[in-house]
Amino acid sequence: MGNKLVIRDMVEKDIPSVMEIELNSFSTHWSEQSFINEIYKKYAITRVAEFESLIIGYISVNYLFHEAHLLNLAVHKDFRRMGVATALLKNVLHELKKKGCIFIYLEVRASNIGAQKFYERFGFTIQSIRKKYYGNPDEDALLMMARINDGLNQ
Ligand SMILES: CC(C)(COP(=O)(O)OP(=O)(O)OC[C@H]1O[C@@H](n2cnc3c(N)ncnc32)[C@H](O)[C@@H]1OP(=O)(O)O)[C@@H](O)C(=O)NCCC(=O)NCCS
Repeated sequence: MGNKLVIRDMVEKDIPSVMEIELNSFSTHWSEQSFINEIYKKYAITRVAEFESLIIGYISVNYLFHEAHLLNLAVHKDFRRMGVATALLKNVLHELKKKGCIFIYLEVRASNIGAQKFYERFGFTIQSIRKKYYGNPDEDALLMMARINDGLNQ
């Protein structure tokens, strides 16, 4: 994939491709409007991974002072395990560090072991459990946190 993978800010015309990935990746999903809101929100970073003009992944993060919150991250099924999410998260962590963030939090479904393994590689650890945080099906969320540090987070 190498240097053909481009990470850039999401724009409105990306949203149909983003929605396709979103619908195929989650049982409860964001609406088009949620992505539009993130694109124009002040303390937000919303980026896509583009490979040969195809949108193959995206990430959405909010931040305020020292804290950031990873709200959404998904990669197209045909492009998983190729380092796309790693490239997206690295890109955003670098940006967050420049903005002075020290901690990043996220929620992940208790059953989503693949994503948890992915986050552990970046130094995320489980902080607590949010009971029945998700619907369809009802499920607990694990709250995970990592320190933002370019040196340690891969
Ligand atoms: C989780 C997700 C974003 C990972 O994206 P990805 O582009 O496949 O991840 P990467 O290729 O960068 O993975 C890097 C490493 O993380 C780990 N990892 C990633 N996905 C994994 C999985 N399903 N199972 C176990 N380890 C996994 C591996 O160590 C992997 O390295 P390897 O492929 O050399 O073994 C992707 O599976 C996805 O979109 N899932 C559906 C949506 C989702 O669950 N999002 C997170 C919600 S909190």
